[in-house]
Amino acid sequence: MNDTKPQTAEGKVLWHFTMSLDGFVAGPNHGMDWMAGTNRPGLIDEYVTTTGAVLGGRDGWDIAAASGGRPYGGDWDGPIFVLTHHPEDATPADGVTFLNCEPAEAVRIGLEAAGGKNLEVLSPTIGRQLLELGLIDEIDLHVEPVLLGEGIRLYHNPDSEPIHLHRVGEADPTLEVNVRYRPQQRNAG
Ligand SMILES: NC(=O)c1ccc[n+]([C@@H]2O[C@H](COP(=O)([O-])OP(=O)(O)OC[C@H]3O[C@@H](n4cnc5c(N)ncnc54)[C@H](OP(=O)(O)O)[C@@H]3O)[C@@H](O)[C@H]2O)c1
Repeated sequence: MNDTKPQTAEGKVLWHFTMSLDGFVAGPNHGMDWMAGTNRPGLIDEYVTTTGAVLGGRDGWDIAAASGGRPYGGDWDGPIFVLTHHPEDATPADGVTFLNCEPAEAVRIGLEAAGGKNLEVLSPTIGRQLLELGLIDEIDLHVEPVLLGEGIRLYHNPDSEPIHLHRVGEADPTLEVNVRYRPQQRNAG
């Protein structure tokens, strides 16, 4: 399979995640220890350069605030917007604005702050809402070679209709992507 071309800064709304092969972006209890962090060379710089602002949800923020974490290990220092119904009890931090508004308004605010670069949506729940509103330009995924079995899904929407996608790239956008994996040997006893 051809890898994606480097991301470009074009004022796009990206639903951007590292995801397990079985479709989870966090493990049980928001666990993230399954990420190996083996990106292709230059990938982090690619997103540090092309990201103008980040839009996240309150649950993700509460976890990030507790660990003092920012996207891209602190290499990126742009504005972060967090959607929450109760901003009054959120943990404040430099560069973080809490919004209690419609998701479409949050996108408008985020894109304005991004100044022509991309707005990254780092939230499964907000991404789903924006997809329904037609406000996601690209779903941009880095698939880790791991199966988790449970956790937080990229897209959880019971009883929804299938959402058909076009793959970004040079090949026929409707073609399947073929991948093959082999289980690693587990350590004996
Ligand atoms: N794998 C990766 O690359 C990656 C990257 C980033 C994050 N993550 C993980 O993703 C997980 C977070 O996902 P999540 O879906 O569980 O939670 P989330 O999207 O971070 O937060 C959900 C919360 O956001 C608020 N919210 C959502 N839509 C809203 C709206 N329209 N208006 C107002 N508030 C709204 C609500 O909070 P209120 O309670 O305030 O109403 C809602 O309960 C975390 O485990 C995080 O670590 C993974």
